[in-house]
Amino acid sequence: MNPIDCQKPTFALTTPLYYVNAAPHLGSAYTTIVADAIARFKRLQGQSVLMITGTDEHGQKIQRAAQASGINPQEHCDRVAATFASLWQKLNIQYDRFSRTTATDHEKIVKDFFERVWNKGDIYLDRQKGWYCVACEEFKEERELIEDRHCAIHTNLQTEWRDEENYFFRLSNYQQQLEQLYAEKPDFIQPQSRRNEVLNFVKQGLRDFSISRVNIDWGFPIPKDPKHTIYVWFDALLGYVTALLDSQQEPTLENALSHWWPIDLHLIGKDILRFHAVYWPAMLLSAELPLPRQVVGHGFLTKDGKKMGKSSGNTVDPVELVERYGSDAVRYYFLKEIEFGQDGDYNEIRFVSVLNADLANDLGNLLNRTLGMTKKYCQGQVPSVRGEEISTAENTLKTLGIDLGDRVAQAYNSLDFTQACEQIFILIRSCNKFIDEQAPWLLYKQKKQTEVEKILYAVLESVRLSAYLLSPIIPNLSNAVYQQLGLDLDFNNLASVNPRDNFEKHAQWGFLPASGSLKPAKPIFPQLELPSD
Ligand code: MSP
Repeated sequence: MNPIDCQKPTFALTTPLYYVNAAPHLGSAYTTIVADAIARFKRLQGQSVLMITGTDEHGQKIQRAAQASGINPQEHCDRVAATFASLWQKLNIQYDRFSRTTATDHEKIVKDFFERVWNKGDIYLDRQKGWYCVACEEFKEERELIEDRHCAIHTNLQTEWRDEENYFFRLSNYQQQLEQLYAEKPDFIQPQSRRNEVLNFVKQGLRDFSISRVNIDWGFPIPKDPKHTIYVWFDALLGYVTALLDSQQEPTLENALSHWWPIDLHLIGKDILRFHAVYWPAMLLSAELPLPRQVVGHGFLTKDGKKMGKSSGNTVDPVELVERYGSDAVRYYFLKEIEFGQDGDYNEIRFVSVLNADLANDLGNLLNRTLGMTKKYCQGQVPSVRGEEISTAENTLKTLGIDLGDRVAQAYNSLDFTQACEQIFILIRSCNKFIDEQAPWLLYKQKKQTEVEKILYAVLESVRLSAYLLSPIIPNLSNAVYQQLGLDLDFNNLASVNPRDNFEKHAQWGFLPASGSLKPAKPIFPQLELPSD
């Protein structure tokens, strides 16, 4: 994947705004975990970051869900939106804005935007006939349907026939400008496979799409014709704009777009690519507004090979998972184990075995045994060795560590979290091997104190560097490592303490100051067990 822009001092990114038809599942949590890791990495590098998440609360799907629970739609939305916010807290997600499409400010932004597109002459009334998937909130072409007119994404749901008067957006007007955008900015859609998918779709010729619905009132009325309700996507995408308003600002489009716009990265799942990479830029072109810099579509989490989804009813409860195993465990598993961009199957046996191998054994035990040895052989102090005194020729850890920061930064900027973890764990595993080979306990007996100190310094420093570079993924564990090494940096609170040059220092092998006091060894990650049921 081509790297995202890492030069700019500010970085604004979004997760999708999640439908509140039901509580979040692991699939929705996945996008947010990824976005949080990116945001944390950018903050680590000293960038000023705005991470936007939120909920998409209008439309038929939500209205029906509220009806099914026997409460009014707003109350339903309030309840479910709160379950998202609470899950983000449990998963240690540091978002800056939570955009809800039922917020009062949002209505004003949607209306301002609608007005601009209307005045451009890009909205007209016509008749819409076709098969509608309520779960996708989208009309489907006959050829896109599977057996018995079921939706190919929500395979357990039959599409519904609609024949009604709708307002349409002249998407077809933007065919050429979109093609030009994709050609001039090959990174606009990533990864490449998703870009190709969009290019193929656009090549077939863009058709205008309907942006209003009748017989549904859970949404904003069309300003010119209130018996129509604005289509949920024409409303929800604007949630990214409303999110930019400061709390004291008058809700106008102009105010909202005065900082942070254009968004640097819209992070989404592959099922909503068309909305973000085709409809959204066309809507913005029509409104004569700058376009986002990049749209990245990840794959699906599957369970037993099928997309995990609320409408499909095969979800895994992320609250249960995080309460059982902790936030770092869940974050690590999904970022390391699912190759970003590809589909990935969730499997609890694999989950437990990966975490035990990597976090409990390779990283946790390494820190523990090294602190134990440092206590015995160096009075619990960081050995008084300076990183520069160790030559790469004599020390494989320094050789591996010296440019690890650069390699991992590149992996993060390419959203290749698996690669970032793999690179870091090569160093961690080498530390374990290095200790076994060097046997500092023998050298200590032989009174080779300088050699013992160089070995222990190299290992402690490598563990520190690894923890630093892993902090966007496992911030709590990184904090625990830093704390035991006697270092004062809170990875959950970087905003106040992180000058730009911090990254340069901490991401460099050899940063660990000599003679610092280490804390007593304490296990940082427990051995996990599978639940017995
Ligand atoms: N409300 C729209 C988005 C509007 S953005 C202005 C929506 N909501 S959603 O709740 O259905 O999906 C939100 C995100 O979760 C999408 O990116 C979707 O791809 C992602 N996921 C939903 N199920 C998923 C998996 N099983 N696996 C990975 N991500 C999945 O679409």
